[in-house]
Amino acid sequence: METIKLDIRKSGVEVTEALKAEALKANASLHAGDGAGNDFLGWVNLPSSVSDSDIEAIKACAAGLRERAEVIICIGIGGSYLGAKAVVEAMSDSFALLRRNRTQPAVVFAGQNISEDYLHELLSAVADYSIAAIVISKSGTTTEPAIAFRIIKTEIERRYGKQEAAGRIVAVTDRARGALKKLATDEGYPTFVIPDDVGGRFSVLTPVGLLPLAAAGVDIAALVRGARDMEAATADGVPFEQNPAALYAVVRNALYRSGKKIEILASYEPKLQYIAEWWKQLYGESEGKQGRGIFPASVTLTADLHSMGQYIQEGERTLFETVISVAEPAHKVVIETDADNLDGLNFMAGKRLSQVNRMAELGVQLAHVDGGVPNLRIEIPKIDEYSVGALLYFFEKACGISGYMLGVNPFDQPGVEAYKKNMFALLDKPGYEEESKAVKARL
Ligand code: PA5
Repeated sequence: METIKLDIRKSGVEVTEALKAEALKANASLHAGDGAGNDFLGWVNLPSSVSDSDIEAIKACAAGLRERAEVIICIGIGGSYLGAKAVVEAMSDSFALLRRNRTQPAVVFAGQNISEDYLHELLSAVADYSIAAIVISKSGTTTEPAIAFRIIKTEIERRYGKQEAAGRIVAVTDRARGALKKLATDEGYPTFVIPDDVGGRFSVLTPVGLLPLAAAGVDIAALVRGARDMEAATADGVPFEQNPAALYAVVRNALYRSGKKIEILASYEPKLQYIAEWWKQLYGESEGKQGRGIFPASVTLTADLHSMGQYIQEGERTLFETVISVAEPAHKVVIETDADNLDGLNFMAGKRLSQVNRMAELGVQLAHVDGGVPNLRIEIPKIDEYSVGALLYFFEKACGISGYMLGVNPFDQPGVEAYKKNMFALLDKPGYEEESKAVKARL
């Protein structure tokens, strides 16, 4: 598929037949459902199974929220937050908040932390705006969004009354289980279901991502179309040479096996910063287990060349870098000639900023490769829904293949439970009496 071009020429990896076979076997397992975590493979064929009527139902619900509210508060954490946040950021005007004639309702996020100041400032900032909420939790029991939702629900009910609140709150949760499902049923909230077989970090193309994105005015049909085309381009049976997800999985595993333990996702477009946050969750939670896994890190360039650039160039040589490169910017800004040339920049006069950005990208690539940092480059044509949809699915598919090549179950996350036990014990949750004594003694 032409949407995404993966260039590995500067990775230093020789793609052997054995590596290709490993990747194709892993991909076949994802499709056959005979690998680890095979009860969480609903995402594999998800883009092609989202129907027009699914899209229409999501858009209709989003339109209802957009009519009622100037600010839509989207509550969730982890996989129930990062996909929507990433795509909203990528698709939004970076300075939307400064626009006087905004036509879109603002979509803001809560429940991704327990910060008192964050929630206070959010509630105070929306005091003069009409509000609605989308609350998202697959388990329906996650503490952070549950706390945020309790507070935001109270605010919505205080303002509009309980009956009207039911028209301003939408839940996205499990079909049958969890406190959120029960609450939504009791309160009569419209509800969208997260399929059982789609884990949180693979759920951006379910209502988890699509509903907030539609609420933000994102063209979710185009997003799904991009993902669907990438699903076809990475399907079982596609030859290795034509499957970019298999190639990415191979190269990163080959680098890992050669001692490169950290992958830095870099982009020269600040709008893609949260795509990197989503990617970090996807790969970190999927691969970091059993004492294994590439540590996913990210930088936004050129800003971080003036901070992390030093380490990348000369620090410990355990890094490799994957650059998301955008071929065409949406806007044009040209550097003008200055008669005095006091800043000495006339040699760039007439050039577009994107040309300068591209030269920075190419110069940095060579410098990092010279410094011992293998480089992969993923080029997307532009930042639009179609390309981003393709990019999201590309990363998901590569993650599944890569996790199997690493020998882990990419679809569980046993490690995220450890902190919860301590937190509940410290908060004296009923049932945690013994743990409470033990953990307090250790403080
Ligand atoms: O990928 C995952 O499964 C997690 O990051 C979850 O998305 C996160 O913990 C939130 O879970 P839930 O949607 O159940 O509230």
